[in-house]
Amino acid sequence: MSKSVRKFYGKPVPDGEIIQVVDGKATKPTRPIIPFIDGDGIGTEISVATRRIIDAAVAKCYGDKRNIVWLPAYAGDAAVAQFGSPLPAETLEMLDYFGIGMKGPLGTPTGGGIRSLNVTMRQHFDWYSCVRPVRYFRGIVSVVKRPQDLDVVIFRENTEDVYAGVEFEAGSEGALEIIAVAKKYGHEIREDSGIGIKPISKFASRRIVRSAIEFAIEHGRKVVTIVHKGNIQKHTEGAFLKWGLELAAEEYPGLFVSEDELWKTHGGKLPEGKILLNHRIADATFYELLCKSTQFSVIATTNLNGDYISDAAAGQVGGLGIAPGANIGAKSAMFEATHGTAPDIAGKGISNPCSLTLSGVMMLEYIDWDEAAVCVTRAIEKTLRSKTATGDLARFMKNGNQVNTVQFTDAVIANMVKPTKRTVDAALKGKKAIRQ
Ligand code: NAI
Repeated sequence: MSKSVRKFYGKPVPDGEIIQVVDGKATKPTRPIIPFIDGDGIGTEISVATRRIIDAAVAKCYGDKRNIVWLPAYAGDAAVAQFGSPLPAETLEMLDYFGIGMKGPLGTPTGGGIRSLNVTMRQHFDWYSCVRPVRYFRGIVSVVKRPQDLDVVIFRENTEDVYAGVEFEAGSEGALEIIAVAKKYGHEIREDSGIGIKPISKFASRRIVRSAIEFAIEHGRKVVTIVHKGNIQKHTEGAFLKWGLELAAEEYPGLFVSEDELWKTHGGKLPEGKILLNHRIADATFYELLCKSTQFSVIATTNLNGDYISDAAAGQVGGLGIAPGANIGAKSAMFEATHGTAPDIAGKGISNPCSLTLSGVMMLEYIDWDEAAVCVTRAIEKTLRSKTATGDLARFMKNGNQVNTVQFTDAVIANMVKPTKRTVDAALKGKKAIRQ
């Protein structure tokens, strides 16, 4: 661990450790430096809350033996105000240098304007795996009757698909050329069409399916479902499925049982030591997540499907306010909530910090600080179970205690207990959403 003398934004880096990531796994530090982009809209309030909660858990679990050195990083509105750019080169250098980060949401204009900063960063750092665990917390009132039936970890491919950003405005030279090429191959496209390109590669498909499988193996999860829209988009979504199944057969011979084999050979009972590898068309997945929730455990899917499915699944267990996520690459990782800047409630101090805080839990698991991870999760569980929640959740609770962001943060910290080793082992069994 090297002590750095580097400067970012004109300031020397504080004392602390740089986390080394080798083959996608982080080393176990005692004073890690974690860059933190607060983000736009509700970003600052949930970022402040998250750091308070994580710091409190770290102090509770390790006393003064460990602490996180948060380092401000800039993107979005704050970066424009200070540096005249929404994504300064130094921010990218900083994240590259430290190999880890947390961030609040960043706004993206719809239709025109700058490209999504999130998408730009995911591609720049090749954070190919977007990992989104979705589970239910007791106390939350959901729109479905049995939200507790859903406990799924979604692996969304993060670098390709329509998110690759290859788009041509209607009437532009690029659009017209592509229309001409399509015509050459027998496809009629209206002249006044905007064109978007959807690249899905064998390489990226294989590595996201591999991540999902590795996760299932490590966490004792028994079903991996490849979700695709290959019935319509045969050479992209269909190929994703084909390449995923090929990878499973090549790299994990004998591990999987197909759905056909499950019923025809094993009478519907998964044999010991095996994992069910099945697949679903994306639209059917939305239906089955709702109506047959228990059938899902780990999902591997393409970028757009994963985006839609993770919001829908989050809604099923109570909403975007409790939807964490992580973007993982071979060399670095970024932990961020699933939701956006929530412009409708920004500045009111009423946002729910749980999504970002639970992303922080994923970060703690990533650096192997399991006790602190469990401490935060259990404090959030206890707070929500007692029906103390921010407005997005409390308004649906019978006799809910509706509090603002700061009050919720205080309540979570007040509910913290240092977990015993047994509690940590029990809580983490099969529940770690990050280590691959
Ligand atoms: P959104 O996720 O910001 O908001 C959707 C709804 O969920 C709103 O009603 C909002 O109030 C509510 N909500 C979201 N987070 C909440 C929280 N923590 N507590 C309580 N309520 C919460 O989606 P929207 O409005 O479509 O997007 C706003 C902006 O955020 C857009 O510019 C979009 O591009 C950006 N965005 C950024 C993301 C990121 O930085 N990772 C992800 C998704 C969207």
